[in-house]
Amino acid sequence: MCGIIGITGCLDVPEAILEGLARLEYRGYDSAGVALQVEDGLWVSRAANGSKSLADLRRAVSGAPGSCRAGIGHTRWATHGKPSEVNAHPHQDCKGTLAVVHNGIIENHFEIAAKLSAAGHELVSSTDSEVLAHLVEEAIAEGASLVDAVRACMKKVRGSLAMVVVHASDPELMVAARRVSPLIVATADAAGLVASDVPALLGWATAMYALEDDEVAEVSPGGVLVSDASGARVEPARLEVDWDVGAAQKGGFDDFMLKEIHEQPDAVAGTLMGRLSPSGEVLLDEMRIDDDELREVEKVFIVACGSSYHAGLVAKYAMEHWARTAVEIDIASEFRYRDPILDSRTLVIGVSQSGETLDTLQAIRYARRWNAKVLVVSNVVDSSMAREADGVIYTRAGPEIGVAATKTFLAQLVALEVLSLYLAGLRGTLYPAEISGLLDSMRELPAKVAQALEGSKDIFDVAARFASAEEFFFIGRHVGYPVALEGALKLKEISYLHAEGYPAGELKHGPIALLEEGTVVVGIATRTRLWEKMMANVAEVRARGAMVVLVANDGDEETAALADATLWVPSTHPLFAPVLDVIPLQLFAYALARARGNDVDRPRNLAKTVTVE
Ligand code: G6P
Repeated sequence: MCGIIGITGCLDVPEAILEGLARLEYRGYDSAGVALQVEDGLWVSRAANGSKSLADLRRAVSGAPGSCRAGIGHTRWATHGKPSEVNAHPHQDCKGTLAVVHNGIIENHFEIAAKLSAAGHELVSSTDSEVLAHLVEEAIAEGASLVDAVRACMKKVRGSLAMVVVHASDPELMVAARRVSPLIVATADAAGLVASDVPALLGWATAMYALEDDEVAEVSPGGVLVSDASGARVEPARLEVDWDVGAAQKGGFDDFMLKEIHEQPDAVAGTLMGRLSPSGEVLLDEMRIDDDELREVEKVFIVACGSSYHAGLVAKYAMEHWARTAVEIDIASEFRYRDPILDSRTLVIGVSQSGETLDTLQAIRYARRWNAKVLVVSNVVDSSMAREADGVIYTRAGPEIGVAATKTFLAQLVALEVLSLYLAGLRGTLYPAEISGLLDSMRELPAKVAQALEGSKDIFDVAARFASAEEFFFIGRHVGYPVALEGALKLKEISYLHAEGYPAGELKHGPIALLEEGTVVVGIATRTRLWEKMMANVAEVRARGAMVVLVANDGDEETAALADATLWVPSTHPLFAPVLDVIPLQLFAYALARARGNDVDRPRNLAKTVTVE
């Protein structure tokens, strides 16, 4: 999510760092900062001015004192703590002798911050990352070298991290370490480099190496030394990279949409991280709405637009089933014009990846005027909606650049399912053991998302068989219905083909009249409670000559037998199934759009964020 660059030993370090940060800009960021090793110590500058932060930083760096031997830079996409100068990286220790940049999420940061404060450390930001600076400071105070201090710090933190630390006492050394979040170290002519991803290093690095989990690297102008968690030297794996900058920014994928589809295991894992306690409880750090108030909620409204609306539809099924709360769902642009009945016992949930969609923003403002509690599910920390809501659940999918939502949609689904189980726990509608069992299934989702992506490798061949079709219907029942809506929306958005999503049982009340030879019907036929009824609906469409594509669970030949083509996904708990079932549909739409030569990242007439009514 965040971008990291570190350089030691080249001629113009500040300029190289600014250039590296500019190359990381495509990842999206809300603030940025640098720490430079200048003659009299570390010089740190940070800017939190949205997409203008890099320009601000450039101005500040032009006034940095003296010559500079090494430095680190960071672009931040907030996950903990709002975008602000104090929350921007690099973070420093109490004495200002070291600086740290971090990408990832430290799950136990509250616990660590409390211990550090009790030991006299002064933490100034509301980020999870700042604890790293103080943990390293503490280890150095106990006599450790910088590299050992970083290793000691790694042992104390849980979660994901890619970090780089510099210390004023050794101005040419950078120490880099990672767990889960990627980090690349590299060598160049008499220079050492480190970065969160390849694009920042292209053209400079002569050799790049990917750090493995819990490895620590000492990067200096003379080269890179890598060691494992025990301190033993290891040979890092050399990366063979022959990308240009454009391809590298897309991670080797042809476009951002495909890259973001493949980032979905991380988007789901990031959204779940720190929220499912080992003892089987749901933890929602930014909820801010009192548990008692939530217990008293009599009705829930979900308001959203586009894909976010479809995520909300799935949530309606989950929340009503698990938390036994009545849930209404509204397209945000309709909500405030229909005179909904709201009061202080109503919870209105705005779902919006950007947190800026005007209709959803106006809907939550309307709800607040009627004294309803407002909760927002957003992918952007401190977005307008997040600021105006009583509580927030952040999806941690990282910035999404493709206009058609993919990874943020999956992240919304899991965030809303986590919320549903949280409400079920509060309201006592599920036993703790039931919740704990569901959380166990949820923990398997990132790996299953990866499996679904793996299982969709032949999607271009499958889609090619339907390349000449003009009409598509997507049908599903129960939570398969919102999945059908999302599948149809993806196809419309990027392929410009006519597609309709329909509840499978409703087909015979109208749309079935449109079916003819050559119409394609895509059915969500994974093994949920209504599978038999779904298959009866599939038989109806087959009888009218439609070509049938079915999303089915891996190995379910009985379902596949009724299909002209099958899109395979792993099985999971029925209410989690949308998280997996939608994946081949995103890819199906992608493959058809590419076959038609469309720009999938910037589809015609569409905007990523709609801030007009
Ligand atoms: C636009 C985008 C969609 C998105 C919708 C809602 O239409 O093109 O991909 O689902 O807005 O956006 P939000 O940011 O509120 O989730």
